[in-house]
Amino acid sequence: MREIGVGLLGLGTVGSGVVRMLQDHQDKISSITGRRLVIRRVVVHNPDKPRSVDLGDIPVTTDVADLIHDPTVQIVVEVMGTIEPAATYIKQLLMAGKHVVTANKDLIAQRGDELIELAVDKQRDLMYEASVAGGIPILRTIANSFPADQILEVSGIVNGTTNFILTQMNQKNMTYAAALKQAQELGFAESDPTNDVKGIDAAYKMIILTRFAFGMTLSLDDLRVEGIDSVRLEDIKQAQSLGYTVKLIGTSKEIDGKVSVEVGPTLVANDHPLAGVQNENNAVLVVGAAAGNTMFYGPGAGQLPTANSVVSDIVSVTQNIVTGFTGNAFNNYAHEAALAQDED
Ligand code: NDP
Ligand code: HSE
Repeated sequence: MREIGVGLLGLGTVGSGVVRMLQDHQDKISSITGRRLVIRRVVVHNPDKPRSVDLGDIPVTTDVADLIHDPTVQIVVEVMGTIEPAATYIKQLLMAGKHVVTANKDLIAQRGDELIELAVDKQRDLMYEASVAGGIPILRTIANSFPADQILEVSGIVNGTTNFILTQMNQKNMTYAAALKQAQELGFAESDPTNDVKGIDAAYKMIILTRFAFGMTLSLDDLRVEGIDSVRLEDIKQAQSLGYTVKLIGTSKEIDGKVSVEVGPTLVANDHPLAGVQNENNAVLVVGAAAGNTMFYGPGAGQLPTANSVVSDIVSVTQNIVTGFTGNAFNNYAHEAALAQDED
C-alpha cells in the first residue's frame, strides 16, 4: 500500500495521543484512505525528555528545518501551542508544500486569516478541528451541515478546564486552586492556564466559531471577556440554592444585523441542558433559521478526545491528497465565508 508521511511538531499531551491513535488504528485508517500513514519525524523542545509513547526508530529532533525539507513528509501536525514560533513554522511548512493540521486556537483565532489565505494560495489544506471544543467535531459540522441555513447563534461551554473547576467546586466543595491543579494534572489546562481561567481560551474559540457561523473575523478587543478567577465557592453555592448553576458561557449571536460575541460566568437554570454539562465536557448550541436549535456535546479537552479530532483532520487531508482535491472544504469554508461577508 502507498504511504503518506506525517510529521509532528510537539509531543506533549495531544501529540502523544495522536501517535497512539495512528499506531493503534493503522488498519482502520488505511481501509478508509487507501494509504498507510507513517510518522516520519517528530520535532520537540527537549529531545531528552522521557515520552509516554514508543516512537521506535522515528527521529526526534529540535530542528523544524528537518520537517520542512523532508520530501517524504506530506502532512505536518502542529501540537506545540503558542503563537510564535508556531505561526512562522506553519507558514514555512505551507510554503514548502506541506498540508498542516493544528490544534492551536490561540494561533487560528489571532492569525487564522493570514494562514488560511496562504493555504488557499498554495492549494494546501489547513485544518484545525481540535482547536474548538476538543473532541466535539463542531467545525466540520458547521461547515458541512448548515450549507443552506442562516445561523443565528452559536453559544455554549467551550473550555474544559473552567467547566471542570466549576464542577469540582460545586459538587465536591473543592477549592478553586485544588480544582485547577487537578485540571492541569489531567492535561486539560494550557501549559500556562491563565488563558483558561480568564476566559481568553474560550474567547479564542468563540472567535473561530464566529468566523464559521457568520464569516466575520474578530479580535479579542471586539469581545467582552470575563473569566472564572473571581468566582467564589460562596457564589456557586448561593446560585445553587436558588436553582442555578454557574457556567462559563460563550455567546455569538446576530441581533438586528450585528454580531455580538461575549464570554463570561453565567447563571444557568438547573433544568437547562447546559447546566448538566459537567467536568471537562463542552456543549455547543447552534441555532439555525431553518434547523432550529441543535446541540453538540462531548469532551472539550483531554488527550484522546483531542487526538481523535486531530486524526480526523489527518484522514480528511489524506483523502484530499488521494483524490487530488486541492484546498479542502474546511479552509475554503472559512475563506469563502469571510469573502462573502466582505461583499455584503
Ligand atoms: P503540551 O504542553 O503538553 O505539549 C507541547 C509540546 O510542544 C511538547 O512536546 C513540547 O516539547 C513541544 N514544544 C513546545 N515548544 C516547542 C518549540 N519551540 N519547538 C518544538 N517543540 C516545542 O501541550 P498540549 O499537547 O496540551 O497542547 C498542544 C496544543 O493543542 C496547544 O495548542 C493546545 O492549546 C491545543 N489543545 C490542547 C488540548 C488539551 O486537552 N491538552 C485540547 C485542544 C487543543 P517538549 O515535550 O520537549 O517539552
Ligand atoms: N485548555 C483547553 C480547555 C484545552 O480546557 O478547554 C482544549 O482546548
